[in-house]
Amino acid sequence: MPSLSVFGAQWGDEGKGKLIDFLAEAKDVVVRYQGGANAGHTVVVGEEKYVLHLIPSGILHPDKVNMIGQGVAVDPIKLLEEVDGLLARGIHVDGDNLRLAAGAHVIFEHHKRIDGLAEIWRGEGRIGTTGRGIGPCYGDKAARTGLRVADLLDPERAKDRLGAALAEKNALIERVHGETPLDVAEQIESYVSMGDRLRPFVADVGAEVRRAYKEGREVLFEGAQGVMLDIDHGTYPYVTSSSTGVGGISGGAAFPPQHIDEAWGIAKAYCTRVGEGPFPSEIFGDEAEALRKAGNEFGATTGRPRRAGWFDAVAVRYAFDLTGASGWIMTKLDVLSGLDEIPYAVAYRSGSERWTEYPAHLASMDDVQVEFETMPGWSEDITSVRSFADLPANARAYVEHIEAITGVPIVMISVGPGREAVIHRSS
Ligand code: IMP
Repeated sequence: MPSLSVFGAQWGDEGKGKLIDFLAEAKDVVVRYQGGANAGHTVVVGEEKYVLHLIPSGILHPDKVNMIGQGVAVDPIKLLEEVDGLLARGIHVDGDNLRLAAGAHVIFEHHKRIDGLAEIWRGEGRIGTTGRGIGPCYGDKAARTGLRVADLLDPERAKDRLGAALAEKNALIERVHGETPLDVAEQIESYVSMGDRLRPFVADVGAEVRRAYKEGREVLFEGAQGVMLDIDHGTYPYVTSSSTGVGGISGGAAFPPQHIDEAWGIAKAYCTRVGEGPFPSEIFGDEAEALRKAGNEFGATTGRPRRAGWFDAVAVRYAFDLTGASGWIMTKLDVLSGLDEIPYAVAYRSGSERWTEYPAHLASMDDVQVEFETMPGWSEDITSVRSFADLPANARAYVEHIEAITGVPIVMISVGPGREAVIHRSS
């Protein structure tokens, strides 16, 4: 399997960090292709817990090359903090094992400011963004006013382009939002000096990924967020600003789509979402609180409590269909231990209409109700189980049934936060 895409099949937070770290063991190159420091990929290695926002999860393996593709929105402050944090913990990071695309767009202070101010401006209609400047940065990319990493490496060019951008952004900050504008000279100086620190990592990442693939090296594409947050196919406008599925790879990593050999989705055995927007299988009150507690469902990036709900087969089937998933990994099955019965969503309804396929044509999901079915639960702690055959019968039945209704084979099941807490479906 020379190239494998691994992506979130729900609303993010599916446990991708852990699985990508696990899968990276057998790969040579790990590539992020979209999103930015809005992601928070948690990896537990022994007693150590790492939360990676921008650097691919392969960094925790000594011999992998980690690439940040040009579709990623790069906050240099966060990236350098992450590099320093890993170095301080004895993880090897240098220009050989971390490569940063010269063409990646840069997230500046003004993007983060405007992200927050725009949320206040939206009021009730707020998206619940992570505040990391993602939307404003991708907005500037599309408007062709953004700066790319390569621009930071050329002080004169950075001065011109950032100066021009700030003239407009400061007017917005000051005149529309009534806030204090940013100091232009200070901003230019600070970002140019960060550009200097980034220099050793900067490369033509697309060319390097394509070369690695042609040379027969194993490439893993690490998706961030999830398909239901995709800018085109998610629950718009309550989405992030990038192409989170397999479709994001060709642009974001400059990699031909016909060379993506396999695509695996990652989905929890239940479902969560952070931020605002539709979540058809959401549950509330004590039931939600219990699931949130059992799954430690608090955002890795913002610490926000995640909204909780049951597995939604309609949404996951849609994510698999859009991406052509050839397999998937079910995560956090252990969190469901102790429930008498486990509900899961099988269809949506609105008025006299009923959908078993995701109704992507609806302008709003506000009136959609969900039809649940249930299966019996199990009481045993399954965190130390390592073979499918050793799972309680009801857990096996749940996995097999969910696999059947999604129509895509489950290749692995994750039963705990540690690297080793994985069951191969064939075991
Ligand atoms: P943004 O990406 O910060 O603009 O946020 C847009 C929406 O995507 C919000 O609902 C966020 O909570 C959500 N979001 C962004 N990144 C992640 C993630 O990594 N996991 C889960 N939700 C995310």
